[in-house]
Amino acid sequence: MRLDKLLANTGHGSRKEVKALLKKKQVSVNLEVVKDGSVHVDTKRDEVTVDGQPVHYQQFIYLMMNKPPDVISATEDSRERTVVDLLQEAQKRFQPFPVGRLDKDTEGLLLLTNDGKLAHQLTSPKKEVGKTYYAEVEGTLTEEDRAAFKAGVKLDDGYQTMPAELTIIEGGAMSRVEITIYEGKFHQVKRMMEAVGKKVRFLKRLSMGSLYLDNTLKPGEYRELTEDELTYCLSLKK
Ligand code: URA
Repeated sequence: MRLDKLLANTGHGSRKEVKALLKKKQVSVNLEVVKDGSVHVDTKRDEVTVDGQPVHYQQFIYLMMNKPPDVISATEDSRERTVVDLLQEAQKRFQPFPVGRLDKDTEGLLLLTNDGKLAHQLTSPKKEVGKTYYAEVEGTLTEEDRAAFKAGVKLDDGYQTMPAELTIIEGGAMSRVEITIYEGKFHQVKRMMEAVGKKVRFLKRLSMGSLYLDNTLKPGEYRELTEDELTYCLSLKK
């Protein structure tokens, strides 16, 4: 990687600021001052310092967000606020994107990363990573509905879903349920509920596999994954 890119990617300023750092002889590679930003460095082997402080290169970023309603799961949009708009520059410079989409009105667990391979593993139905949602649903969900979900239901476009698990927390005119699905079709939970004649009024993702939403995160807040969470996620890449 070019030295100037490495310095910009590790928060040492804009291209112009990085150029100034180099010119002022503040940057060394393997203890030798380097003024040329186009020099290539091996991020694993070469020791780069700025004012004697080692530069730690990080390729990937993994963030857990409690997605609030009213923002869209995209990186940019000309009209709507996106989940990436909620990040600070320090995270944005890694160019993270949301892993799988949550609808604009859906809340809860959203992973943002720039690790495309992990994103694929988490969303691929082949990997069978369960996504669990809490939902408030208009209409009384019954044992028959639970059985229908277990068998898989037919969506409005004729698609037969994979089996899903439905747990009824509280029945009644407005049922409270948890549902686990293993794929991520467009509006899947809402459409599965529609398939059994119910309407989702509130939807929040609680978990993806063994990655659980941190309850201390307020809507719109995010944090880096803990080491254990990251170990779990990276185990899916294998
Ligand atoms: N299913 C939906 O219907 N919406 C979501 O946001 C996620 C799953």
